[in-house]
Amino acid sequence: MSGRPPPVSDPVRALAASAWAFRWKVELEAEVRFARLADRLESLAAASLAPLARRAALDERRHAERCAELAAAWGTAVSGPVAPPPEVAPAGLEPEDATCYELVAACCVAETGSVAVLTSLLPSARDSRLRAVLHELAVDEVDHARLGWAALATAHRRGSTAFLGPLLPAMLEGSVDDDFFLPADPAREDPRLLEAGVQPHAARRRLFVETLEGVIFPGLEGAGVDTEAGRAWLAAAASRSRPG
Ligand SMILES: [Fe+2]
Ligand SMILES: [Fe+2]
Repeated sequence: MSGRPPPVSDPVRALAASAWAFRWKVELEAEVRFARLADRLESLAAASLAPLARRAALDERRHAERCAELAAAWGTAVSGPVAPPPEVAPAGLEPEDATCYELVAACCVAETGSVAVLTSLLPSARDSRLRAVLHELAVDEVDHARLGWAALATAHRRGSTAFLGPLLPAMLEGSVDDDFFLPADPAREDPRLLEAGVQPHAARRRLFVETLEGVIFPGLEGAGVDTEAGRAWLAAAASRSRPG
């Protein structure tokens, strides 16, 4: 941060620290995931994308350092390696399809979603250091999202993207926390979280839905993926967040 963090209440400070500590862990996991994907891409038809995955891994390590810095500014020190992230592709897929699945989940869904979140946070970030970090991360995550869309386009040219359609519910379920569509503790809806670079829970959920409907589903459909099952999953999940 450029100076002292804004004077906020303890719950906001604690939630901000925990959110940036969580992002630190997610960034380190992403580093490992992209390095693993780069290795796999090198042995597949989409080998030309391997250097992008390799560079993304380096970006994520730098992002983790930025997130650790912000977590510390809010009062939580993070350190140490994290466990490698689990494989996300369902068992039984051919290596080419499993890699495509993981790239779609990590990049087309998660990274595209991150771009939306980071971009939405920028207008509220008054602290110059926070703004700089949000901007740096957003610029890189755009590239990481593009890697996934490029991999999907490559698979589409091979005529091998249709398998993803029925798998979208599991992929999307794996992309959100268990409580994502449930009402949150009022402290997690505090609009002052925005000044710490953290989206209140309901706003984050709204943005996720908008990004799926406005960007991710259309992008998948353009690459030959039937999104009917994914859209049905979203409708059912979103209905859980509506009272009554
Ligand atoms: Fe990142
Ligand atoms: Fe990323």
